[in-house]
Amino acid sequence: MTPENSHDLRLPNRFLELYTPEKIHGDFVGKHIISVEQFESNDLKILFDATASIRKRLKQSDRGLLELCAGKIAVTLFYEASTRTDMSFQAAMRRLGGEIVAASNGVQFSSVYKGENLADTVRAAGCYADAIILRHPDVGSSYEAAYYLDKLREQIQRKPVIISGGDGVGEHPTQALLDMFTIFDFKKGFDDLTITLVGDLKNGRTVHSLSKLLARYGARDVTLCLVSPAKLKMPEKILAELKAANMRIVETEDLSEVIGSTDVIYWTRVQEERFADPAEYAAVKDSFIMLPSVLAQAKPDAILMHPLPRKNEMGTPADHDLLDADPRSVYFQQMENGMFVRMALLAKVLGGLWV
Ligand code: NCD
Repeated sequence: MTPENSHDLRLPNRFLELYTPEKIHGDFVGKHIISVEQFESNDLKILFDATASIRKRLKQSDRGLLELCAGKIAVTLFYEASTRTDMSFQAAMRRLGGEIVAASNGVQFSSVYKGENLADTVRAAGCYADAIILRHPDVGSSYEAAYYLDKLREQIQRKPVIISGGDGVGEHPTQALLDMFTIFDFKKGFDDLTITLVGDLKNGRTVHSLSKLLARYGARDVTLCLVSPAKLKMPEKILAELKAANMRIVETEDLSEVIGSTDVIYWTRVQEERFADPAEYAAVKDSFIMLPSVLAQAKPDAILMHPLPRKNEMGTPADHDLLDADPRSVYFQQMENGMFVRMALLAKVLGGLWV
């Protein structure tokens, strides 16, 4: 691979310490979105109100189009595989009346192929676009992108923003926002909710961001159950944050202890691509498999979420079909919400007239 992709994926980038993202504080315009730590309760409220409004207006609109970002351009820079994040951002930008641009044959055939570093590639994108959606294998890569874009802003007197689409095993802030919106949408609030995260809590960036966001939003109301094999436990640093927020935490390797009292089941994939040793992956990959017989133990009004993609952690394609037919499975609604939340976020940071 290119020099950019060949270094140790688990080494956090130094910009994680060097760069502090600006808090939203009720004003999204021109802010980079790289961590859930930028959000407070009020910011989520503003974003979720805008999301609900966009969803309603879009479903009512004949053309499936709202002109909130007309004349704006977003670039997608994806150094890692993606389906939902990539396509939902593309669709979001187009449904806002904006344009989306990407390297014609994927980022691997941009100058990244010639060895260009992230700092330069991201500034090239910033010269052409108003927003850059970045997915990269290094933890802290979006912090690095924000740092260099701030330097570029001084040179071009314009404010391109970076939006993280996933920072290696670090964070995935927009996924957490859409997950929160989905929980809010189905459960109408967070009061007395028991939320259970299951699977690869060590390497899964979606559960890192979601639990951090829950600690910032619903710490007093939510009981958070963390179910994983011992080798894939939630990192200590994040656990410490959750405990500091006085969140009720239950850590267990036994799903049956908690599934019957859970309101929101958040299932995840074992992140095969993060394992250096295939034997280590093989040893844990089948630790938790969601099957119709497992879902049968859940409350009748529980919801089952999954950021997807799914592999064998939801059994065979035939099991998928059975699970999908259960009204408690909401991962496709969760997926669609991803586009609405990203529309609201893009409109907000790009200063869309209303929302
Ligand atoms: C997740 C990701 O890329 O972190 N997918 C997503 O963005 N919807 C989850 C995963 O890959 O397991």
